[in-house]
Amino acid sequence: MAEPRLAVRRKSCPGSVRKRSRAPVQPSAVCSPVARKRLSSAEGPLAETSCANDSEEDMFGDYDSLCGNDSFLAQVDDIEHKYLQDEKLAIKAPGEIIPGNLQPGLPQKKQVNFSIPENTVTLKADKEDAFQVSERGAVDNNQEQTDSILDELPSSQLLYFEKMAELSFASRIPPASEGMNKCVNPSLEKIRSTSSFCHGAEHRNRHTDSSSDSKSDLFKTESLKDHLKSAMTGNAKAQTLQVSKTKQLQEAVLSEEICVARKTIESSSVDIGPFYGLPSKVKDLFRQFRGIEMLYDWQHDCLMLESLQQRRNLIYSLPTSGGKTLVAEIIILQELLCRQKDVLMILPYVAIVQEKIRSLSSFGIELGFLVEEYAGSKGRFPPIKRRIKKSLYIATIEKGHALVNSLIETERIDDVGLIVVDELHMLGEGSRGATLEMTLAKILYASKNTQIIGMSATLNNVGDLQKFLQAEYYTNNFRPVELKEYIKIQDTIYAVDSKTENGFTFSRLLNFKYSSSLEKADPDHIIALVTEVIPKYSCLIFCPTKKNCENVASMVCKYLKKEFRAHREKEKQDLIKNLKYIGNGSVCPVLKQTIPFGIAYHHSGLTNDERKIIEEAYSAGILCLLACTATLAAGVNLPARRVILRAPYVANDFLKKNQYKQMIGRAGRAGIDSAGESILIVQEKDKRLVQDLINSPLENCYSSLLLEFTKGMQTLLLSLVGLKIAVTYEEVNNFMCSTLLGVQRQLLSKERSLSEIIKDGLQKLIEKGLLKGRISEDNHSKCTLTVTPLGKATYKGSIDLAYCNLLYRELKKGLEGLILESNLHLLYLTTPYDTTSNCSPDWMIYLRQFNQLSGAEQKVADIVGVPESFITRKASGQAIRKNVDSAVVNRLYLSFVLYALLKETDIWSVSEKFNMSRGYVQNLLNSAASFASCVLRFCEELKEFWVYKALLTELIKQLTYCVKTELIPLMEVAGVLEARAKQLYNAGYKTLAHLANADPETLVKMIDHLSRRQAKQIVSSAKMLLSEKAEALQEEVEELLKVPTDIPTTY
Ligand SMILES: Nc1ncnc2c1ncn2[C@@H]1O[C@H](COP(=O)(O)OP(=O)(O)OP(=O)(O)O)[C@@H](O)[C@H]1O
Ligand SMILES: [Mg+2]
Repeated sequence: MAEPRLAVRRKSCPGSVRKRSRAPVQPSAVCSPVARKRLSSAEGPLAETSCANDSEEDMFGDYDSLCGNDSFLAQVDDIEHKYLQDEKLAIKAPGEIIPGNLQPGLPQKKQVNFSIPENTVTLKADKEDAFQVSERGAVDNNQEQTDSILDELPSSQLLYFEKMAELSFASRIPPASEGMNKCVNPSLEKIRSTSSFCHGAEHRNRHTDSSSDSKSDLFKTESLKDHLKSAMTGNAKAQTLQVSKTKQLQEAVLSEEICVARKTIESSSVDIGPFYGLPSKVKDLFRQFRGIEMLYDWQHDCLMLESLQQRRNLIYSLPTSGGKTLVAEIIILQELLCRQKDVLMILPYVAIVQEKIRSLSSFGIELGFLVEEYAGSKGRFPPIKRRIKKSLYIATIEKGHALVNSLIETERIDDVGLIVVDELHMLGEGSRGATLEMTLAKILYASKNTQIIGMSATLNNVGDLQKFLQAEYYTNNFRPVELKEYIKIQDTIYAVDSKTENGFTFSRLLNFKYSSSLEKADPDHIIALVTEVIPKYSCLIFCPTKKNCENVASMVCKYLKKEFRAHREKEKQDLIKNLKYIGNGSVCPVLKQTIPFGIAYHHSGLTNDERKIIEEAYSAGILCLLACTATLAAGVNLPARRVILRAPYVANDFLKKNQYKQMIGRAGRAGIDSAGESILIVQEKDKRLVQDLINSPLENCYSSLLLEFTKGMQTLLLSLVGLKIAVTYEEVNNFMCSTLLGVQRQLLSKERSLSEIIKDGLQKLIEKGLLKGRISEDNHSKCTLTVTPLGKATYKGSIDLAYCNLLYRELKKGLEGLILESNLHLLYLTTPYDTTSNCSPDWMIYLRQFNQLSGAEQKVADIVGVPESFITRKASGQAIRKNVDSAVVNRLYLSFVLYALLKETDIWSVSEKFNMSRGYVQNLLNSAASFASCVLRFCEELKEFWVYKALLTELIKQLTYCVKTELIPLMEVAGVLEARAKQLYNAGYKTLAHLANADPETLVKMIDHLSRRQAKQIVSSAKMLLSEKAEALQEEVEELLKVPTDIPTTY
């Protein structure tokens, strides 16, 4: 195991309160980012737009994967399931100590263990009273089962098992007393039901806080509340009410540990909890839900950093698959459970948010915190104030920003104790980067107590980021599975070796006999590269464009031997059947041809359902090769023994080092593969550029506030004034010095000073009618600026400033004559502006669709400014003299698509009708749902638009789900997409309560292609959602029943 390198850069004044102004930074030697070319995506028109409202349409699209390898995980579940049952039985009464090894039943080679931090002081407890849990029996009993399950695992996963067994044997095995004994405080008098420990603690606090006069009232409220609670959550909690004594004891242990841990955290900076200040149960949950037995050395070192103990901000950076997430999750749990604060976790894409919701819901249920989704059109602003449970908000970058704004506005930002940002390098990526920068800058400025943690595998100019975030830095080169990098030029494979002069050294010749016809079809010898790996192991081929993915998949299977068809034949047939089912009878012809060979393509042209099914099949080893675009390049845990980069391009742009690193980082994922390698296919002409790529450092991360002027700089200025963070020119100036732009200002604003840019920006906002005040004259730098209602609506709705006036005008015009015969007019108003530039209507389809509208609906076209004559002339190819705004024409066309979607609820038939890819149509739908929720928040701030509130609320619901009404309650559960909802509904699971109370075992039996892990995640997510809804109602009840403190009295 690599020796961790600790690189903690201390702040000049450790432990001191954060300073808000910083010294200017020296410009970096690397070329100016302003000149850098913006990445153009290979993901189609929608993918290229950067939507104002949510991160669904970027080059990584609305990527939707399941966490990890499901077949592997499903089988590990079996072991786990059995193990858990036995573990419950193995819990002994207080005082009974079970000696021995942690896993005596396993041959030594297969022993694995959780490491207890060596320098961690275990909880002081009276040994005689200590409550101890044995894991011995469980492992004994499972040995046989483990072996049989191992027999069924795909070979790549078997190798992983073996490797891990070797590793764990070689690594430290803590003394039995450390590894197996869970010492806890013996006072078990407060046995509470599941997830009630926070509840209990809160009650205690509240009783102490309350004055004695109000005690009896409070008591009344409590009992009524409890009554309501059990009525509302009755079904969902039915299982937890029937807790066994063992379960109660476990809960009591947990409760006690958490109290001690909380007190410890409050009183000391030394971690003395059994598991990094957390209850032992957390350790068990990581083992149970993630299969993690032992922390890596670096993870332990990082968690023990002084900066973390003292809650200072931290950036940490490790290679892909280094295990960064686990550290973040432990810190999150410390904040939620021990410090009793809410936490915000920011992730780059909607699908990754949903995946995280699924995987953390089970932790929430077990440990008693809420997990709330802020992605797409989901999320409440401001969030519901919870009195009892703490919340983990999991958000996209855009929704995270809106959430922070709403918390600052309601003066609740201090409730958030921690913000975790995954993929921190996103700070440098366009409008999304600008939004992330604004969020973090506001937090730094508005909340002295909110800790910020950022992580990434691809950071270079860390110094700038540290200055911006006032953070310390930890880095390490650890990667659990070695990744070997190669490039291929003609038939020679070179190993990448940055120590040599040209960056690579000869490795081997590719040995494969090519016929002349094959040579013609596959000049780059992709088949030779792939067949070295598949079908035994998995392989990903990254291709520059979507079309290229499909071509590569078709080409490869055309020349594969028949034997490839035989590999897991039945499962592949089932997969095609499944795709047919979700495609309402149709399957993409390319997939139909490639899947029998274990091959598929994967890009944003697929629907979410298709993508999910393909990923699941690939994870399970049914498919062994995916030809994919960069949609699969970030933060994904899919098995890949080999990653091939078809060419060093993404669309027409040469690959960037960061992209290269992320793509190859998909090979050799810990827990899935035992080895990983990447091969970049290079043409002679690109040799020099590839040498540069290999020898160059990772790209620097630069502020995008200036590049994205309306979505960046101007939006920030407006919200600073609106939120009263900075209300004079001088204050705004001060604030801007503390942004990343402020840190990099000498490099990024060479021609004009930052203060001039700010002055100009504020002036423009005044001219646009978004701000009021004067800043242009010299002595007005202290004049107070205020936000107008339109300004407030704009920043609250997260509307791009480039469109806010237009949106206002269109909504206003709508008030004079909104056509409400159908939802077409409303759909037009909520079609995102930034989707229109890449849309090129098919005029015949346009006309056909227009002709199918009713008379009233046709009027919509006229009202918005697209006359019928224009469409007719365009369709017949005649010249147009009249000037018609193409953005409006395109927007109307896209609203026809949305209209058809809501009517038919069938993406396939609509995509056929409009000759668009089904993935594109689905992306349009998702971004419309998201934008509609922004428009709703915009309208809520402007009195004159009161009427839109009810209309939009209903429309958002339709756009968010776009399915038959009966499926909506099921699709509210994170990760349940339409196909799964249909299956569940047909099997009799018709409501959220049905899902929350479902038995995962029964689900697995009743629902096709559902692994045990997925079933458990669905049940956990449903339970979490139900509990969150019930809690919200409870809060309302409490609020209603609260006795006002200022009731007039006669005394
Ligand atoms: N201590 C551990 N023991 C075993 N497996 C681990 C451990 N820590 C993390 N893993 C596993 O390693 C895999 C990769 O971890 P993770 O997703 O955190 O990587 P990452 O550092 O975030 O990589 P990327 O930068 O690519 O997102 C996951 O499947 C995770 O469960
Ligand atoms: Mg990650």
